[in-house]
Amino acid sequence: NAGGSRYRRVKQLGAGGFGTVWQAVDTQLNRTVALKIAHAPDRDTAERMQREARALAVVSHPNCVKVYDLAEEPDGLALVMEYLEGRPLAELVDGQGPLDDVAAGRLWATMAGALAAAHDKGVLHRDIKPSNIVLDPSGLAHLIDFGIARSQGDSKMTATGMMIGTPDFVAPEQAMGSAASPASDAWQLAATISYALSGQPPRGTRETPMAALMAAARAEPVSRLP
Ligand SMILES: Nc1ncnc2c1ncn2[C@@H]1O[C@H](COP(=O)(O)OP(=O)(O)O)[C@@H](O)[C@H]1O
Ligand SMILES: [Mg+2]
Repeated sequence: NAGGSRYRRVKQLGAGGFGTVWQAVDTQLNRTVALKIAHAPDRDTAERMQREARALAVVSHPNCVKVYDLAEEPDGLALVMEYLEGRPLAELVDGQGPLDDVAAGRLWATMAGALAAAHDKGVLHRDIKPSNIVLDPSGLAHLIDFGIARSQGDSKMTATGMMIGTPDFVAPEQAMGSAASPASDAWQLAATISYALSGQPPRGTRETPMAALMAAARAEPVSRLP
């Protein structure tokens, strides 16, 4: 808790290529929050954090994680969010096996609602996949990680943004470098639901991320449907 920060860290919740997510306590309001802190404190990263915070602020939907603040922490800029109890869909399916069809149907409807709210505000998520959905203990789904979200019509960063994540859930037009659209978010969601039901990405897995990206760009037929 260096430098008397407002946020007292409790434990690490996740670590990705981009940064680290902590469970923390907001000592001013005395509530649990999640802090996302980037590894690299450069300008691109700060912009990405701002984009994520603004996308979440404008969307504001019960099944999208809520953003509280952007704060300067001793080790970098922190996105302060609602803490979601539960586990990412990826972890749940890897550990306990696929969801049943009722749970998967509920997941699909819930996430489609969250996406529709984002699309209504002109925000595309662009990185929907099993590690970016948290299921809480009641089974309700929450969409997280708007880190490469973009407003529609904002065409910058299509290629680099996409390469941040795994290509297994990328829509063909995204893999080919065309602009993302609400339809590509819908494709990613359908691919994620397919994974929830089968435990496999819809095109199966490839040896390398590049091979997976090529398969996506060639629109190779889906081969691992539930
Ligand atoms: N608000 C939150 N509450 C609880 N856990 C979270 C929250 N946000 C992220 N996490 C956890 O941290 C992991 C990484 O967060 P994410 O925003 O997807 O970052 P990255 O850009 O590194 O993928 C998630 O898969 C999830 O396990
Ligand atoms: Mg993520």
